[in-house]
Amino acid sequence: MNNIEITKQKEYIEKVKEINKNKKLNYYILTMGCQLNENDSEKLCGMLEEMGYNKCEDMKQADLVLFNTCCVRENAEDKLFGKIGEVKKIKEDKGVILAIGGCMMQEEHIVEKLNKSYPFYDIIFGTHTLHKFPEDLYNAICENKKIEDVINIDGEIYEGLPIKREDNIKASVTIMYGCNNFCTYCIVPYVRGRERSRKPEDILNEIRNLAEKGYKEITLLGQNVNSYKGREDYGFDKLLEDVCKIDGIEIVRFVSPHPKDFTDDVIDVIAKNKKISRVLHLPLQSGSSNVLKAMNRKYTKEQYLELVKKIKTKIPDVVFSTDIIVGFPGEKEEDFEETLDVVKKVKFEQVFMFIYSRRVGTRADKMENQIPEEIKHKRFDKLKELVEKQTIENNEKYIGTIQKILVEGESKNNNKMLTGRTSTNKVVVFEGNKELINNVINIKIVENCLWYLKGKIS
Ligand code: 5AD
Ligand code: SF4
Repeated sequence: MNNIEITKQKEYIEKVKEINKNKKLNYYILTMGCQLNENDSEKLCGMLEEMGYNKCEDMKQADLVLFNTCCVRENAEDKLFGKIGEVKKIKEDKGVILAIGGCMMQEEHIVEKLNKSYPFYDIIFGTHTLHKFPEDLYNAICENKKIEDVINIDGEIYEGLPIKREDNIKASVTIMYGCNNFCTYCIVPYVRGRERSRKPEDILNEIRNLAEKGYKEITLLGQNVNSYKGREDYGFDKLLEDVCKIDGIEIVRFVSPHPKDFTDDVIDVIAKNKKISRVLHLPLQSGSSNVLKAMNRKYTKEQYLELVKKIKTKIPDVVFSTDIIVGFPGEKEEDFEETLDVVKKVKFEQVFMFIYSRRVGTRADKMENQIPEEIKHKRFDKLKELVEKQTIENNEKYIGTIQKILVEGESKNNNKMLTGRTSTNKVVVFEGNKELINNVINIKIVENCLWYLKGKIS
C-alpha cells in the first residue's frame, strides 16, 4: 500500500516535471511552527525541486507560494492571513499558485474561513496528505481545479519521498508522528492524530545515509519521542542506542520527551553515550501541581523535580531546557509562584516561554476561569526577567572551560568569526579558519555575551 502510493506520487512528480520543462519556475516557502513542521517542509521542498521548481527568497518572484502552517498558538493564524493577503496582490499582478498545508488546515473553522474570505487559494492539504502534494499540484495545474485535500484519519507513514535538507551538517529525522497525550491546552493531538512510530530500520538507514553524506549531528523528532515504539521490544532507549552506534554521527539530540515517560532505560543510555547532547529538553509547562492536573500532564511539581534530580545524579554534566506556559485557565498567583520556584531550582539553560493561547476544540478552551490578558502578560514579563537574570549567571560557569564544538559555519553577525554550539546548545563564537567548518574542535570559553559565549581555539 505504502509503496504503491509512493510509486504513484513519483509518477505525478514526473508528470509535473514534464509540464514545467524549460520553464525556469520558482517557489517560495514559509514554514511556521516547530521542528517537525520544518522537517515536513524539507520534504515538500524535495518534491518541488524534483518537479522543476527552484527555491527563491522573495515571494514576488515566485510561481508557486507554499505556506506550511502551525496552529499551536494564535499568533500563527494572524500571520498566515496577513501573508495570504500579500499573495492576493501577486495573483492579481502576475498569477501564482497558492498552496497552504499543515496543521492549521486540519481545523474546520480555518478551512471555512479560507473558503469564505480567501477563496483564491489553489490547494489546501492537511497533515495526513502531505505525501500527496505532487498529485494535488498536478490536478490543480492540469484540471484547473481548486483542491481541498484534508482528511481526518491518521495518515500512514510514507517512506522514500524526496527530501531537500536545509543544512549539510545537521539533520532532523522524524521518528514518530502524532500524540496521544491530550494535554488540555494543546491542539496537536487533534491535528496530527494518534501516535505512529516509524520502523527502526527506516530511521537507522536514513541516518546511515546522512552520515555517509557527511552529516555529523542528528536531531530525532516527535511530539513525544519517549513514547516511540518501533516494535513490541524496541522503544526509544534502543533507538537512541542504535543511533549512537552509527559511525560519523557525533552529536545526537532529541525533542521533545514527556517527563511522565522518561524511563530509567533512557536515562542509562544517555549516561553511557557521550554522543548524546548534555542539554535535555524537559517540558515543564507549569510548576504548580494543581495547574499540571488541569493541564492533564500526569505529573506533579514534586515528581518533576524528582526526575530532574534522578537524571542529574546519573548524568552529572547534564543541563535542562524547558517549555513553560503562563496564564493557563485558573492559574492563581501562588500557582505562578510555584512555576518561578521550579525555574529557580532547576536553573534551566534555556526556557521557551509562552502565553497561554485558547485553541478551539481543546478542553482548556471550554474552562470558565480564563485569565485576563494583562495578568498573563505581567506574569510572562516576570518570568522573562527571572530567566534572563539566570542566563547571565549561568553563562559565567562556562568561562575558562574547554568545550567540544561542531563548527557550523560563519557567524551570522560577523563573517570573520566562526560559530558552533556547546553540547548544552549554547552558541559559541570564535576566530578561526573556514576550513574548520564541519569539524569538531576544542574551544576555550573566554567571554559571556548573554545570548552567546566568546571562545578561543585551544
Ligand atoms: N498556548 C500556549 N502555549 C502552548 N503550547 C502548546 N499549546 C499551547 C497553547 N495553547 C506550548 C507548550 C508546548 C510548546 C511546543 O508550545 O509549551 O510544549
Ligand atoms: Fe501537545 Fe501534550 Fe502532545 Fe506535547 S504531549 S503535543 S503538549 S498534547
